[in-house]
Amino acid sequence: MSSKLEIVRQNVIDCNKCDLCKTRTNSVPGKGNSKSDVMFVGEAPGRNEDLRGEPFIGVAGRRLSEALEGIGISREDVYITNAVKCRPPNNRAPSKLEKETCQEYIQKEIEIIKPKIICILGNTAFGSILGGSEITKFRGKLGIKNNQLYFITIHPAATIYNQKLIEVFKKDIKKLFDLITELKNGKNVPIDIEFSS
Ligand code: URA
Ligand code: SF4
Repeated sequence: MSSKLEIVRQNVIDCNKCDLCKTRTNSVPGKGNSKSDVMFVGEAPGRNEDLRGEPFIGVAGRRLSEALEGIGISREDVYITNAVKCRPPNNRAPSKLEKETCQEYIQKEIEIIKPKIICILGNTAFGSILGGSEITKFRGKLGIKNNQLYFITIHPAATIYNQKLIEVFKKDIKKLFDLITELKNGKNVPIDIEFSS
């Protein structure tokens, strides 16, 4: 891990800037390959993540790993993080204040890793990072904000309750890596939406 990222990680571990620090077991910093072309952003840690201090290690994480493995990518190859780094009690959605307070960490992760594409997983990350809502209308699309590309898809947990979404999610993940390949080959990729900063 780069030393700059190591500092962000330590700051997340020690953070007490919002009330979620009072109820968490562990903060959950991002994890993975700091040289990755893609950064995945989920909502907030769940129970398993809170206990271990690692992102996406429960059922939703398995769905993400499976989608990656389906196209020959290991989760160690990519960087995985959350919009909010501490678990909200009983997995409630993070509040506006919690999302705003935690933003500085994701902004630093983005600055350090400089991913070619940031993959937004679900509505909370979509709202928190791009100010968007109604993920079902935007999933599978490529957006841009402040010169940074974003690919939007559903949260992998959505595939647990709706089996039909497994294929939708896998197809989106394949499209994401096809886009990365095109970018690496110097091709222009079609941008579907521009988000205002
Ligand atoms: N769901 C998330 O959004 N993030 C995790 O780390 C685990 C489950
Ligand atoms: Fe700090 Fe974010 Fe955890 Fe709040 S959720 S205590 S801002 S790391």
